[in-house]
Amino acid sequence: MDQSINPSDPLANPSEFKDVIELVSREALVYLEGLDTRQMRSPDSDTVADSFAAQLPEEGDGAVAALSELLGRGLEATVTSAGPRFFHWVTGGSTPASLGADWVTSVLDQNNGGWDAAPLATKLELVSIDWLKDLFALPSDWSGLLTTGATMANFTALGAARQWWSEQHGIDLADQGFGNLPAPQVLSSGWIHVSARKALGMLGMGRSAVQTFSADGVGTIDLEAMEAALVALGGAPSIIVGNAGEVNAGHFDPIDALADLAERHNAWLHIDGAFGLFARISPDYAHLAAGIERADSVIADGHKWLNVPFDNGIVLVGDESWLLKSFSAGADYLPDPDAERPAYFFLGPEMSRRARSFTVWATLRAYGRAGYRSMVERCVGNAQHLARLVGEDSRFELLAEVPLNIVCFRYRPSGASAAELDDLNQRLGEAIMADGRVYAGTTRYGGRVALRPAFVNWRTQESDVELLMAVVQELVDGL
Ligand SMILES: Cc1ncc(COP(=O)(O)O)c(C=O)c1O
Repeated sequence: MDQSINPSDPLANPSEFKDVIELVSREALVYLEGLDTRQMRSPDSDTVADSFAAQLPEEGDGAVAALSELLGRGLEATVTSAGPRFFHWVTGGSTPASLGADWVTSVLDQNNGGWDAAPLATKLELVSIDWLKDLFALPSDWSGLLTTGATMANFTALGAARQWWSEQHGIDLADQGFGNLPAPQVLSSGWIHVSARKALGMLGMGRSAVQTFSADGVGTIDLEAMEAALVALGGAPSIIVGNAGEVNAGHFDPIDALADLAERHNAWLHIDGAFGLFARISPDYAHLAAGIERADSVIADGHKWLNVPFDNGIVLVGDESWLLKSFSAGADYLPDPDAERPAYFFLGPEMSRRARSFTVWATLRAYGRAGYRSMVERCVGNAQHLARLVGEDSRFELLAEVPLNIVCFRYRPSGASAAELDDLNQRLGEAIMADGRVYAGTTRYGGRVALRPAFVNWRTQESDVELLMAVVQELVDGL
């Protein structure tokens, strides 16, 4: 190494950016070209990850050394979740356009708090929100913003709902706190996602503020019981959380019926559509999510079915003023919240913000409505294909219908007790992950341990689905 270069000082190495960009783009291409066949997780991943435990270096080795370590042995401790055979949780990949835009986001390093610091990012967030409303067939006068994911999107939208609820009681909660407010009333079906509860906890309303109305032991809404509870409130404000795409089997609450209840009983209707909102893109599945246009707020995840890189969530609201009242925080050095040019730090929890709009804009610009419609339909087709394969093998049983993109099923050899079936399926999930050809884990559905592969990655094809089923069929023989 040139003796004049001090690797601990980036200023002393003028070619470091060039070296890093060349290294990363070279290695990234190799990685991306192998993504479709790469093992999902190395058996050494835990050991390799642990091997990164080290003291803070007194002297650095420079960027190329650091990144070589990350892209060298570091890769062994990663999971191939960007690829087409990751079916665990609900995890999308990154389209080429969004991946490129994500790199640009870091190169330009804009602070998308507001127009003053980031005019392009701010404008593209406005445009992206408009395009998303169009894509999801939602009213054009709605407003919205991008967050880190669906949990923070639920937090943001429920923050707006909380503000509405408090002002119904004559109190500006963002300003005065909970004060003399009564206990919040939040109603949902058994499909409510844990992130909505978490958001309610973070908002000070409490995870256990949620009353769920379901009588079937699985989660399906009991509308009559919910309406009876609303009637008992006697017109006092409440918040209904509707679920468009439940995480274990992809179920939908009847949103139109919830909108009727909300209208009749003075409730804010919030919809968690983390992935289910995308059903509205396809004429074949839009009916599942009908009525969301009547809600007060809805959220979705960009890093799920939009297939933009982590992290990315979407909040859409009918009346932006509730976001502003809940989240705006002015200071002398910041723009005026009423300024003509918007500032997103007034609409959500973050002040400094990553320019997440670059990836959203780029992917929508690149693939348009038609591209997203076929992505959604391909994923649903993959789910239906898997459901068919499961149905053809009598050793397996579907635990739920497949409304959209998740297949909830289990191994069910004859003669096994309920406890044995749970144990077998638990071990099957572990065996799939250890095997490394595909990635899918377990859940509990109606109290029973089950597999629940989810399809949202744009790259997944029927051959990947067939490999998943073949791996499952092979592994059950060894249980
Ligand atoms: C229905 C639903 N809501 C919210 C979330 C939370 O999303 P995130 O992990 O992006 O915060 C998920 C995640 O799977 C989900 O399925």
